[in-house]
Amino acid sequence: MTASGAPIIFDKVGKAFPKRGGMVTALEDVSLTVEPGAITGIIGRSGAGKSTLLRMVNGLERPTSGTVTVAGQDVGRASGGALRGIRREVGMIFQHFNLLSSRTVAGNIALPLEIAGAANVQRRVADLIDRVGLTEFAERYPAELSGGQKQRVGIARALATGPKVLLSDEATSALDPETTQTVLRLLADINRDLGLTILLITHEMAVVRDIASHVAVIDGGRIVEAGATYDIFTRPQHPTTRSFLSGVTGVTLPAFIAQRLLPSAESASQEVVRITFAGDHATDPMLARLTSELGIDVNILAGAVEEIGTRPFGNLLVSLPVARAAEARAYLERHHLLTEVLGHVR
Ligand SMILES: Nc1ncnc2c1ncn2[C@@H]1O[C@H](COP(=O)(O)OP(=O)(O)OP(=O)(O)O)[C@@H](O)[C@H]1O
Ligand SMILES: [Mg+2]
Repeated sequence: MTASGAPIIFDKVGKAFPKRGGMVTALEDVSLTVEPGAITGIIGRSGAGKSTLLRMVNGLERPTSGTVTVAGQDVGRASGGALRGIRREVGMIFQHFNLLSSRTVAGNIALPLEIAGAANVQRRVADLIDRVGLTEFAERYPAELSGGQKQRVGIARALATGPKVLLSDEATSALDPETTQTVLRLLADINRDLGLTILLITHEMAVVRDIASHVAVIDGGRIVEAGATYDIFTRPQHPTTRSFLSGVTGVTLPAFIAQRLLPSAESASQEVVRITFAGDHATDPMLARLTSELGIDVNILAGAVEEIGTRPFGNLLVSLPVARAAEARAYLERHHLLTEVLGHVR
C-alpha cells in the first residue's frame, strides 16, 4: 500500500444537472484545497451538493465548469486508462456498503484487485482483512455480518488498490453510535498509518469534531466556510455553520432563561452573554477580576469545557448588568475571550 496522501484541488467548480425544462445548479464556484494526508469533513444540509462534490474526485461526476485536480491530474477531463488510473488512487466507501452478496468477505475485497489484474491477490486480501480486524470472518457472506463488519469490508475493499485518497459518503449513518465510534477509529488509524487523504461527508457534527482536522461547510452549492475544524467549531461565521453546531459544541441556554429572552435591552436589567475561550485562556480568573477590578457582578447560567481534536474549548453563559455589559465585554475581549450577546432578561 502507498503511504502518502494526495492533494485535491477544486478550482471554481460548477455543476449543473439537466432537469425537465432547464437545469438545476448543484454546485457553483467551488474553490477548495483539501489538505493532503488529513481528514477533511464536508457538512451541509440535504441537497447542498456534498455528494456531487465528492463524486467529482473519482470522476463519477464531471464538472460543468472549473477543474478538479487529484494528485496533479485533471479528473474532469480524464478518460479511458487515465481515468481508471485515477480511480485506483481514489477509494470510496458508502452508507449502504455496496457489497456483492454473492461473494465472501475475502471475495469482495479481492474484486478491485482482480479487476486491476494485480499480483499476489490472496496475500494482499489477507493483509487487508487483518488491517480491518476481520480475520475470523474472511469466508462469511455479507448477509452473515453486522453493519459495522460490512463497513469494515467496504473500507478494506476501498483500500485494496493502495489509494492515496479515501472518500466516505455518510459511511457511518446506518450504524449505531458505538459501531460508528469503532469505524471512525479505524478510519483515523488508517489516516495515521497510511497517510491517506480522507474526505468524508457526514450529517453528524460529532464525527467531524472527533476525527476531522479540517472542515468545509457547503450551502446551496457553495462553500460558505472552510478551514481547521478547531477554528470553525470555536468561531463559526456563517449562519448555516452555527445552526449545525448548536447542540454539538457549546452549552445551550437553560430553558427557564431561554423562554424569558428579550430581543432588546429596553426595560431589561441583565444582558445574556456567551463567553468562549480557545486554548489556554481560562475564564475563571477573568470573571473573578471583572468583579474585583471593575466591580461588575457576573451570574453564571451554564458552562462546559470540551475537547475538539485534542484542544480545549470552553463555553460559558453568563448574565451581566445591562448598564455595565458593554464595558465588561470589552474587558473580556481584551483578555482574548470571545463574547456574543444572546439577548436580555428582566
Ligand atoms: N444525477 C442527478 N441528476 C439531477 N439532479 C441531481 C443529480 N445528482 C444530484 N442532483 C441535484 O443536485 C443537488 C445536490 O445533490 P447532492 O446529492 O450532491 O446533495 P447532498 O448534499 O449530497 O444531499 P444529501 O445530504 O441529501 O445526500 C440536489 O438538488 C440534487 O437534486
Ligand atoms: Mg449526499
